[in-house]
Amino acid sequence: MKLIKEIKKSAKLKGKTIVLPEGTEERTLQAANEILENEIAKIILLGDKNEISNKSKEFGLEYISRATVINPKDSNKRDAYADLMVEIRKAKGLKKEEALALLDNPLFFATLMVKYGDADGEVAGADNSTGDVLRPAFQYVKTLPGISVVSGAFIMVLDNKSFGDNGIIVFADCAVHPNPTASELAEIAIATAKTTKSIIGIEPRVAMLSFSTKGSAKHEMVDKVVEATRIAKEMAPELKIDGELQADAAIVEAIGQKKAKGSEIAGKANVLVFPTLETGNIAYKLVQRMAGAEAIGPILQGMAAPINDLSRGCSKEDIVNMIAITANQA
Ligand code: ACO
Repeated sequence: MKLIKEIKKSAKLKGKTIVLPEGTEERTLQAANEILENEIAKIILLGDKNEISNKSKEFGLEYISRATVINPKDSNKRDAYADLMVEIRKAKGLKKEEALALLDNPLFFATLMVKYGDADGEVAGADNSTGDVLRPAFQYVKTLPGISVVSGAFIMVLDNKSFGDNGIIVFADCAVHPNPTASELAEIAIATAKTTKSIIGIEPRVAMLSFSTKGSAKHEMVDKVVEATRIAKEMAPELKIDGELQADAAIVEAIGQKKAKGSEIAGKANVLVFPTLETGNIAYKLVQRMAGAEAIGPILQGMAAPINDLSRGCSKEDIVNMIAITANQA
């Protein structure tokens, strides 16, 4: 697909280093091999050196020899990382022995590599749950200045080119924050607009979705979206954003003009911000399965450094794409 090709091309130019904590996992090794063969990014694999070497031979992965392999259990950076962890978590009373024990876990070790500047980004989740991948990142990498929540966006690529920008439309939050407040929802909208611009290179037009369009229904859930739109406009006055809009009013020109006359977003949105994680997660999966859309993500946004989570059902290709996206975010 053209978009993914562009993302890989741009990652290649950046020459970033991505750490893969699940270094002995089969799809991860295959993805790393493809990344290294095509020089899309430099790769650090975490795990036992012999196990990685034996598996690479078994699977015929000749480019894995270009990766740096680190075993978190015997790395000479453990002491420095543990000191940094204690410093970051001093308010929580973290002790150095506890930090050293946490560093045995490759998910913590990888996060500390990113925090310390030894890697530009991390991709994990082929073998671990979303919560286990995100918790170390929340605790040690934290959010960008001015952003309090991390959220997850999907780039949806549709065959029907009349939606979004030539069939490309970004959905969020589909992965992380279950029930955002109005101000958190405003942050999610701003972060998603940034992701849209930086990863796809298109000008974002953000619709704040609800079951109401411009006051057609009255409910506290609608009030939250109206308030989030107001806050987002205040936080980012240059952003093209409108709400509250129903999904049809957001993406279908004729309906948008009828229900939200004069709106510069209605009918033209290329970014859809959902009011809750439930709605966003359900919507992306339905569009993926029922409309046959390609769903690229979740791209985690709002984190101070790029750390991305995979679905445990991911393919080798999903991991390759996510490494390229992460390199672009770095
Ligand atoms: N953004 C930034 N920081 C956060 C966020 C967030 N969205 N959520 C929690 N944190 C921080 C907390 O402030 C806390 O920081 P502290 O330790 O410094 O005080 C730390 O993370 C841990 O917070 P908890 O509330 O204990 O986090 P918990 O582990 O319970 O939950 C999690 C976080 C796992 C992300 C939870 O919100 C969750 O399960 N979300 C849903 C994930 C999911 O299942 N998504 C659907 C599947 S993904 C898919 O289908 C593509």
